[in-house]
Amino acid sequence: MRNPLIAGNWKMNLSCQQGTDLVTSINAAMQETEVEVAVCCSSILLGCIGKAVENTGIKLGAQNMHWEEAGAFTGEISADMLLEAKVDYVIVGHSERRHIFGETDEMVNKKVVKALSKKITPIMCIGETLDEREAEETFSVLKRQLEEGIKGISPEEAKTMVIAYEPVWAIGTGKTATPEQANEAIGYIRSELEKLYGNPVSEEIRILYGGSVKPDNATEIMNCEEIDGALVGGASLKADDFIGIIQF
Ligand code: PGA
Repeated sequence: MRNPLIAGNWKMNLSCQQGTDLVTSINAAMQETEVEVAVCCSSILLGCIGKAVENTGIKLGAQNMHWEEAGAFTGEISADMLLEAKVDYVIVGHSERRHIFGETDEMVNKKVVKALSKKITPIMCIGETLDEREAEETFSVLKRQLEEGIKGISPEEAKTMVIAYEPVWAIGTGKTATPEQANEAIGYIRSELEKLYGNPVSEEIRILYGGSVKPDNATEIMNCEEIDGALVGGASLKADDFIGIIQF
């Protein structure tokens, strides 16, 4: 059985103190949840939030990483730097990175490969835009982003990674995919993984849903058969909301 994961994506928000307070509140609610919980903070907060999550069950995640080992890449953060900060997860290929910062499938793939080689678990995000959904291209977009993103990854590595289905039109818009839409897309992703890696492997890979997850829709999303958790943006910034989600 796949162990569900609920990860908060704080994006470019919160100070060290605000993040620490949030972690303290989440930790106090951890006994009442069976799911794995992670918080993905900005790079500069990793040291601070890393301390805050020490001796809690809460995992630490980063939001981005460069694929090169080290060198002249001004402004970038390497996998070893994330390891030094004791990161468990790194979000890769979030739609904001793809659309605002021009990340391509090829760049996403290099990051996924690097993270896995360093034993940092990538949460690889894929998802269609509204135009693509309306043009009935959802499955072809997901197939391309998936296949390109995991190129060259062995079945053993693939088993350990996390994929997040995040329809771009549902991110930060308050428009959630219906549980049926999310379940269908995630079922499709798993069927493609099965074609690539075979059944035991595809059954082990966790696939999350992300896009306007809130306490009042978390239960129906989490209860969908294909959905193994959630990547939560806006609602991960407020203790009550995030706790409501992890205790769905
Ligand atoms: P949202 O963001 O929950 O604010 O829609 C989700 C995400 O971007 O991962």
